[in-house]
Amino acid sequence: MAAENLDYLKDVLARTRGEVGKVIIGQEDAISMALIAIMTGQHALIEGVPGVAKTLLVRALARALGCEFNRIQFTPDLMPADITGTNVFNLRDNEFKLVRGPIFTEFLLADEINRAPAKTQSALLQAMQERCVTIDRDTHTLSPNFTVFATQNPIEYEGTYPLPEAQKDRFLFKIRMGYPSREHETGLALRMLGCDAPEAVLERHAVQPVLSAGELERVRGIFQAVTVREELVSYMVDIVRTTREEDMILVGAGPRATQALLLSSRAHAALAARDFVTPDDVKAVAPAVLEHRIVLRPESEIEGVTVGEAVARVLQGVAVPR
Ligand SMILES: Nc1ncnc2c1ncn2[C@@H]1O[C@H](COP(=O)(O)OP(=O)(O)OP(=O)(O)O)[C@@H](O)[C@H]1O
Ligand SMILES: [Mg+2]
Repeated sequence: MAAENLDYLKDVLARTRGEVGKVIIGQEDAISMALIAIMTGQHALIEGVPGVAKTLLVRALARALGCEFNRIQFTPDLMPADITGTNVFNLRDNEFKLVRGPIFTEFLLADEINRAPAKTQSALLQAMQERCVTIDRDTHTLSPNFTVFATQNPIEYEGTYPLPEAQKDRFLFKIRMGYPSREHETGLALRMLGCDAPEAVLERHAVQPVLSAGELERVRGIFQAVTVREELVSYMVDIVRTTREEDMILVGAGPRATQALLLSSRAHAALAARDFVTPDDVKAVAPAVLEHRIVLRPESEIEGVTVGEAVARVLQGVAVPR
């Protein structure tokens, strides 16, 4: 990797963090993970209880990276056409005109994705995969920067349509946003006095774009140059295969997980301004890559085992290359 590229990348990422840090207090891991998903051209699930700044994070990232932002609230009556768009007959011109849906954007926040029925979810997932949508047989391309952040609320499962395993697999990561520390929560309370709307927060703290339109694609290209030793590729394959053998796990991760480990560990290395991957990069991204791709055995769940613990067990069981 050319040194100047790496320096440029380091600078972009540091400045992006700086801008996002103007509005988001703490949540450093979530910010890193979101940046990795963006930089690798993938999509991410975000999980966290209400009010931990999921929406604000995506908005702030969009603003800092010079990308357009849209949000769709998924509801039980949301139809595929509500997100993709419809051809509407225009009487004056005597022809059909496409009214583009909210999916025609760059960063899309799909809020509470598990509240919409399967056909609406699949319209979104298809668009994620192909970066295009089909409306009345015409195919329309989406922006190359089209990135979906889908939220799921972990506590309300009633009246929802959990994403099928095959669809969760399409997301690079599940990013968990936890409660802030006491210190952060106090800082937050003081800072947010009298101002709560995300737009207002972004304005007040003047989040500035770090990249101009089109620049994100160039930044993404730089990641391709991060090298991975063959032993580390085997290490990733071993980790994924071990999820299929571990006793606590009923369904292990599929082959997309290996690809996800590869992509994201390279981006993780680049975030640390390194042009080669280490085992620690792999370990750092493995939970976010694997936790949403495995299903625990009912017995393990009854015993109170979490997916996080199962992934930790898998990682312990795989020999780390030297
Ligand atoms: N870590 C944080 N840094 C900065 N502001 C925060 C943080 N956590 C919460 N907030 C504040 O909480 C408000 C709510 O955040 P936001 O709407 O992004 O939450 P959310 O996770 O999307 O919630 P919901 O699940 O209800 O949609 C923000 O406007 C902000 O004022
Ligand atoms: Mg929200």
